[in-house]
Order: sequence, then structure tokens, then C-alpha cells
Amino acid sequence: MRAVVITEPGDPEVLEWRDVPDPECAPDEVLLDVAASAVNRADLLQRQGHYPPPAGAPEWPGLECSGTVREVGSAVSGWSPGDRVCALLSGGGYAERVAVPSGQLLPVPAGVDLVSAAGLPEVMCTVWSNVVMAAGLVSGDVLLVHGGASGIGTAAIQVGVALGATVAVTAGTREKLDRCAELGASILVNYREEEFPAAVRDATGGHGADVVLDIIGAKYLEANIDALATGGRIVVIGLQGGRKAELNLQALMGKRASVIGTTLRGRPPVEKAAIVADVRERLWPLIENGAVAPVIDSLIPMSMAADAHRLVEEGRHVGKVILTV
Ligand SMILES: NC(=O)c1ccc[n+]([C@@H]2O[C@H](COP(=O)([O-])OP(=O)(O)OC[C@H]3O[C@@H](n4cnc5c(N)ncnc54)[C@H](OP(=O)(O)O)[C@@H]3O)[C@@H](O)[C@H]2O)c1
Repeated sequence: MRAVVITEPGDPEVLEWRDVPDPECAPDEVLLDVAASAVNRADLLQRQGHYPPPAGAPEWPGLECSGTVREVGSAVSGWSPGDRVCALLSGGGYAERVAVPSGQLLPVPAGVDLVSAAGLPEVMCTVWSNVVMAAGLVSGDVLLVHGGASGIGTAAIQVGVALGATVAVTAGTREKLDRCAELGASILVNYREEEFPAAVRDATGGHGADVVLDIIGAKYLEANIDALATGGRIVVIGLQGGRKAELNLQALMGKRASVIGTTLRGRPPVEKAAIVADVRERLWPLIENGAVAPVIDSLIPMSMAADAHRLVEEGRHVGKVILTV
């Protein structure tokens, strides 16, 4: 088969679509013919040599894909050859075939085409596991999503709105904020022009954010606590603004608040399977009834993965950039 190989750490040019050995299907795995994968920010870090794949994962990038079941491992039940699925991966999605632990498979939701479904698993599992399972967002909460126009952000806005939250977002341009508004965000903050804590407090009558989904890290820690409502929860899932910051524990205690940090990729398969099961049970129906939809920026052939990485690196996209086989 062919895969997008990282020939050496570096710029997008190091990505090469070339022949690699076929994956083998272990007893607890399912082998897929990949229809499409999608670019995640972590793939750019992996390409640069900063985010090696976990043990046992293929060397080539790709944290999610969609496709058709080709072979089912001897210990797997519930899936059959020909099933149309999408999958959460530890790596290896940028390829014609991939072997996936069966607990990380999801059916393609009704109403979503096979290619678009490639952009669902990573963002939906990340958003659900953090905003709902870890931070306990409930109807009536205020959810602040940083980077509202990102792959993660576009999913988080829709999930928040579908669950009855008021959604605030940050983004760096008016165009991106307009797209966030179309998805249901009602508090729009251009982080280049405004301080988001004051903007969120003003827009919520002084209440602040009950849950913050943060992709910036150190640079926003103090401001995130400032933006928080009493009893609020910050979930840090990205470090685009650095990894080390000073934490004002008095401010945290005064708000009876919590700061949570998570990664999805490094979790053991059993934890990923638990997240996937909850996503299938509680989030998939929201996709099937149209409340939540994949937001696709562009479709790019896998052989041109370097162009897709440039697009995401330059931040010109809204939502997901899909790589098609
Ligand atoms: N922990 C986990 O398990 C996990 C899983 C998946 C993703 N993530 C993280 O989630 C983040 C988003 O991933 P993605 O694949 O969706 O990335 P993406 O589509 O490339 O989006 C990155 C976003 O960051 C925004 N941004 C940059 N600087 C900002 C700032 N100062 N304030 C607010 N927004 C800012 C950009 O928006 P502008 O152009 O408007 O600046 C852009 O929309 C990444 O950091 C990724 O590593 C973590």
C-alpha cells in the first residue's frame, strides 16, 4: 500500500506518498481500506519531529480516518467486511490501509458522507471527553472555546449549543468569528483587538465562563482564570502559547475552580474505547439529527499532503482539512 511518509523532520516538503508494507490485522483489530483521513495540528508537530507516535502505532501521521472494513480480527465481534466506518487512531491514517483496535471504530453517522466522516473522530472524541466527560458541561452553562474556527473549535461550538450552553469564542479575524456565529456561537471575541475575560464577563452579566476549552496553554492561564465563573472548569488540551505558567492559587481557590489537562492520543486503548462508546451513544445522535455536522474546509488528495499541511500551518482554514485517498 501507499502512505504519506515523513522522510525526515522538517517542513511540509518532507511528506512523501510512497510504498510501505501493508498493515497486519491483530485478533482485536479491524483492517480498513481508507477513504479519507484529516489533518490535525498534532500532525504538524509530528512532521517537525516534536510528537513521536506512541509505541506500536505506524510511523506515518493520521489520528483519524474513514473507510470500509476489509478484514475483521478473530476476537472482534460487531463489525463485518464492507461496513462503512470512521476511526480514532494513534497514527497511520495518512495511508491506503490501517489496522484499528475495534473499540475505536464508529459507524459513519446517517446523513454524513464517507469522506466527510474522516473529520469526525478526533475532534468529536476530544471535545466530548473534555467538555462533557471531564468538565461536565450542562445546559445553561457558558462555554468559552479558544480558537473557535479550528477543527476542535468548530466541533466544540456545535456540541455546546446542542447541549444548551451559551458559547463564547475567540478567533483572530472577523471572517473566522462570522463562521463561528453561523455555527451558533453568540459571544465573539477577536483576541487581537479585545481582552477576552472582560468581553466574556460583560456579555454574561458578570457571570463568566463555566467551562473553558483551552488550546493556548501558558499564555492564557491567568486570563482563563480571570474569565471563569465561580465553580468553573478550565480544560487545557493544547499548548500553542507555551507549556509553563504561574498559577495564582488564591484566584483558583476564590472561584472554587479547577484546571484539568488531558491528551487523547496517549491514552490506552481501553480508555479510548470508553470515550468512543460514550461518543457513539450520546454525541452520534446529535450528528444524526443534524444538530452537529462536520465542518469541512477543503478536500486535498493524500498525495498532496504537503499542501494540506501548509494550509493548516498558515491558519487559512476553518474546520477540517480532509485528505482523500
Ligand atoms: N489534548 C488533546 O487530546 C488534543 C486533541 C486534539 C487537538 N488538540 C489541540 O487542539 C488545538 C486545535 O487543534 P486543531 O487540529 O483543531 O487545530 P487548527 O485547526 O490548526 O486550529 C488552531 C487554531 O488556533 C487558533 N489560535 C492561534 N492562536 C490563538 C490565540 N492566541 N487565541 C485563540 N486562538 C488562537 C487559530 O485561530 P486564529 O487563526 O483565529 O488565530 C486556529 O483556529 C491544537 O492545539 C491541538 O494540539 C489537543
